[in-house]
Amino acid sequence: MFLKTILTGVAIAVVAGGSAIAAECTLPADAQAGKAVSNQCKACHVFEADKPSRPTAPNIHDIYDSKAGERKDFPRYSQGMQGAAAKGLVWNDQNLMEYLNDPKAFLNKVNGAEVKHAMFFALKDEKKRQDVVAFLKAIKGKPECN
Ligand code: HEC
Repeated sequence: MFLKTILTGVAIAVVAGGSAIAAECTLPADAQAGKAVSNQCKACHVFEADKPSRPTAPNIHDIYDSKAGERKDFPRYSQGMQGAAAKGLVWNDQNLMEYLNDPKAFLNKVNGAEVKHAMFFALKDEKKRQDVVAFLKAIKGKPECN
């Protein structure tokens, strides 16, 4: 009886291990290319769904289709990003493309004034921007992808 209980426990552990393998990340080709681009973002940003933001930048695992400037564990949003949040900006393909190309110009435009911004990084290559946006879109809600 005792042995049977142990064996049942082992069987459950094996099944649980199997389902972890089943949840391996699969990405469409453009998002896969974007994953390589995201290495540049990882100098500052966190991409693991369950990890807190770092002092350098907010966690952006689930940023696609989410409101701007909302991470409670990132206390350093700039005046410009707080203004965008107050206006209810939601990150989509179009505005992510614009923001990544020129964060300062984008936040000035959204706020309708010259504002402070805090992302001192830009991705000028259009293809790389498209790919990294495809990556952000693909990993939304998928903790197995980062
Ligand atoms: C040098 C550090 C740095 C790098 C590299 C960087 N970022 Fe950022 N990012 C920031 C900071 C800081 C903020 C907060 C900006 C603000 O408050 O104005 C931010 C904000 C963002 C936001 C808005 C987050 C929110 O909560 O609304 C997105 C989206 C974003 N970054 C995407 C990217 C992507 C994609 C890359 C790579 C292609 C990247 N960033 C590279 C520092 C960085």
